[in-house]
Amino acid sequence: MSLTNQPDPEARRRVVAQDLENVMHPIVQHRALETSQIVVTGGQGSTIVDADGSTYLDAMAGLWCVNIGYGRTELAEIAAEQMQQIAYYPHTAMNLPAARLGEQINTLMGGDYHTYFVNSGSEANEAGFKVARQYAKHEFPGQFRFKTIARHYAYHGTTLATLAAGGMGERKTKFEPYAGEFIHVPAPTCYRCPLGLESGKCGMACAKLIEATIQAEGPQTVAEIIVEPIMSAVGVAVPPDEYLPMVERICRKYDVLLHVDEVINGFGRTGKMFAHQHYGISPDIMAIAKGIVSAYLPIAATVVKNKVFESFLGEVAEARQVMQVNTYGGHPVSAAVAVRNIEIMLEEKLPERAATMGAYLMEGFKDRLFRHGITGDIRGKGLLIGIELVTDRESKVQLDGALVQGVVDFCKANGVIVGRSGGGTRHSNTIVLSPPLVITRTECDMLIEVLDKALEATVAKMNGAA
Ligand SMILES: Cc1ncc(COP(=O)(O)O)c(C=O)c1O
Repeated sequence: MSLTNQPDPEARRRVVAQDLENVMHPIVQHRALETSQIVVTGGQGSTIVDADGSTYLDAMAGLWCVNIGYGRTELAEIAAEQMQQIAYYPHTAMNLPAARLGEQINTLMGGDYHTYFVNSGSEANEAGFKVARQYAKHEFPGQFRFKTIARHYAYHGTTLATLAAGGMGERKTKFEPYAGEFIHVPAPTCYRCPLGLESGKCGMACAKLIEATIQAEGPQTVAEIIVEPIMSAVGVAVPPDEYLPMVERICRKYDVLLHVDEVINGFGRTGKMFAHQHYGISPDIMAIAKGIVSAYLPIAATVVKNKVFESFLGEVAEARQVMQVNTYGGHPVSAAVAVRNIEIMLEEKLPERAATMGAYLMEGFKDRLFRHGITGDIRGKGLLIGIELVTDRESKVQLDGALVQGVVDFCKANGVIVGRSGGGTRHSNTIVLSPPLVITRTECDMLIEVLDKALEATVAKMNGAA
């Protein structure tokens, strides 16, 4: 049985039954899938198609990842060509597409980096933790630098170590306990400052706490700090401009590596190729995934500065080499597709486009959505945007979770997929948006229109309930 873009209700029913009977899905409740599900069969640009023929403007680009948009059939041809050449060989050897991809990434980063390939953002961060620890073993032999400083409400992946580094309770608690090597500090979630300070008058207290934490833990125990430049999942927390440069200065002062998670932020999403480039900082370790290949195939990477890479050089007997291997790391087919994906981004100037369309959306949202008293804050960079919903702007009390979910559901019922932040009772009240970078002005207008209507309906519901 094959599904096409032609609506076929009977085939769709069979797929749903087959799936519910046999498949265990991530993060969604299966009971919910019984009554409402998408059976995706096609996509073009920013639009996906369901087997029932309905279309949705996907303002989340899948899971924040289809940066160049759906339906780029030329990537299928590249994958087929590469499979006919050589589909796979382990990356202990070299292959053409991975070498070219490494060169592309190094060029985008200014030429002082080497790239280690893995398959997912989680693995990219996980390898980053290990690189930091191994580097510390080489460079600080008398010390025991193994700790990673991370931030509350961060999300860095789904493996045990990346969950431990993360700071999202609802994602973590089912799997506790974790080993204690990840030390958490408050994040620059400025609309709800964890330190109760006022934005612009806080003296960057949260960044200063990082230094205090390193001192308290003992600098000789700290290997690295991990930051996502703009925290995405918690509701798009854009840090003040001074924050990341301050974090970098602290890293340099204590010989702690700066590990930057660009899994969502990277590849044009925020209006530059990498989000850290907005802040003039220079990562020692950088995790990339998602936009590297716009999710056409799985590939991800841990990119390390040459000063780190050089620490892994030596005689074979010294055993300084990277002490891990991923079977599919540097997969030639994924790498070939990623190479073309990055070329497309550069040819079509998609980071610049994200800046322009992001500004257009922000203006439209600010113009239309603040008329609803439940719009607390609208923030973002490029095409990474969060709209925080509150009961009223004065009190900033988080809008009730069912009402926030109602906004998401209203949008879906009206042909638009939007996301919702995680972050427990403190931060789960933001509508998050991360559309393909090819989104058009007409689609932006539709997004603004549908969200406006969704908030209007929510306010009406609240008034009706009062
Ligand atoms: C910032 C960040 N880091 C890491 C990851 C993990 O990536 P993956 O799901 O590919 O393992 C994610 C996933 O959404 C993410 O948002």
